[in-house]
Amino acid sequence: MKDDNFLRENNARHLWHPMGHPGALQETPPTIFTGASGVHLHDLDGHTVIDAVGGLWCVNLGYSNDALKQTIAERVHQLPYCSNFGGSTNDAAIEASFAVREFFADDGMARVFFTSGGSDAVDTALRLARQYHRLRGEPGRTKFLSLKKGYHGTHWGGASVNGNNRFRINYEPLLPGCFHIPAPYTYRNPFNESDPERLADNIVSAMADEIAFQGAGSIAAFIMEPILGAGGVLVPHASLMPRLRQLCSDNGILFIADEVICGFGRTGSWTGSRHFGVKPDMMTVAKGITSAYFPVGGCLVSDQVAEVFETSGADGAIFTGYTYSAHPVGAAAVVTCLSETLRLDTKSNAGPRGTQLYEGALRLQEKYDFIGDVRGGTGLMCGIELVSDRDAKTPMDMDIMTRVHKAAYEAGTNTRLGANNILMSPPLVISEAEVAQIIDNLDTAFATV
Ligand SMILES: Cc1ncc(COP(=O)(O)O)c(C=O)c1O
Repeated sequence: MKDDNFLRENNARHLWHPMGHPGALQETPPTIFTGASGVHLHDLDGHTVIDAVGGLWCVNLGYSNDALKQTIAERVHQLPYCSNFGGSTNDAAIEASFAVREFFADDGMARVFFTSGGSDAVDTALRLARQYHRLRGEPGRTKFLSLKKGYHGTHWGGASVNGNNRFRINYEPLLPGCFHIPAPYTYRNPFNESDPERLADNIVSAMADEIAFQGAGSIAAFIMEPILGAGGVLVPHASLMPRLRQLCSDNGILFIADEVICGFGRTGSWTGSRHFGVKPDMMTVAKGITSAYFPVGGCLVSDQVAEVFETSGADGAIFTGYTYSAHPVGAAAVVTCLSETLRLDTKSNAGPRGTQLYEGALRLQEKYDFIGDVRGGTGLMCGIELVSDRDAKTPMDMDIMTRVHKAAYEAGTNTRLGANNILMSPPLVISEAEVAQIIDNLDTAFATV
């Protein structure tokens, strides 16, 4: 490995980072991480910080799961790659598919199509939804519905159903036939409705109206995150997801639950769908499926969807997929990660630690009047929205957001900014003392505003 000076001199010089400005990052280079342990990240300057972001909502098992590390190392030696197109497979892929099916049995999922990450999984789900309707003799069902503020990755399909214009406008025009329903965002919404249940009523009405307007027979699928993560940790009223699911069933529209963040215990239940008592037609997963130690995602389908594909003629063949679909190292990582997730019962820690984080953030809101909204309390994800004027809800200036982020980091906690929101989704194995430290460090950072 090159020395520290080399790393600093070449930082962001030859690498364009996702979700960042390449010029600005040359001016203000990104933090260089060189190691991690437990729930901590270690940087080149010698700081050790709690990773309150859990990588990117993904390092659910923390950074020190030796079983997972060992599995990956062994697999690389045994079978570093194997194509899974058509006529070949690998032992780990078979085992991983069995483990995934068992993990998601209570959600009614019957088959998995492995991908390299969440964006691939979403794109696969959207494609398979269209193909499903063609196979059933309704090729006119091609449109997609989704929620504003939802995040579904960055492939063309996922970006088209994304509900945040930051990820859209530079790349438009996107896929035609994608329509967006208002988000369960009590702090800001077009209905001026702060009550979560009444907001859910409005959203259900808006979706029913959109379905009638588009014509149910033209819509292939609706996709939503059970709790909207990157959009700011928007926790809907418990009635919303079941009612939207019902609306889809009534109109022949496939319901896709995007569980890329919510899956694998983050909500305090094994899946967000299960948390809200919904059985979707399809699910998309990634991140926690390997705790991000190896890039893997998946599109899962129910028995009923599987049957349509498996019993149809030649048109049932799936002509999409990735070189790394069911990668033997990734598949082995899935098997170990799922068994570690169950062994450590991470969902049972996510619940109380999530409540602790949320309540701590609410206490900070009482102390600092620039905290406009605090969202969370359902599992281990929390959003703190900063405003410069609480009455006008004016989003906090980005310079101040950056300053708060830096101050929190210097105090000992790594957070993530999503516009004027501080977003947190720590590893699900975090301890009570570590969550307390996050709150203390945020307090220190807010005191600098
Ligand atoms: C809900 C959701 N769907 C899809 C994606 C895209 O996943 P990836 O970044 O692995 O492509 C993400 C990523 O954050 C996500 O949060």
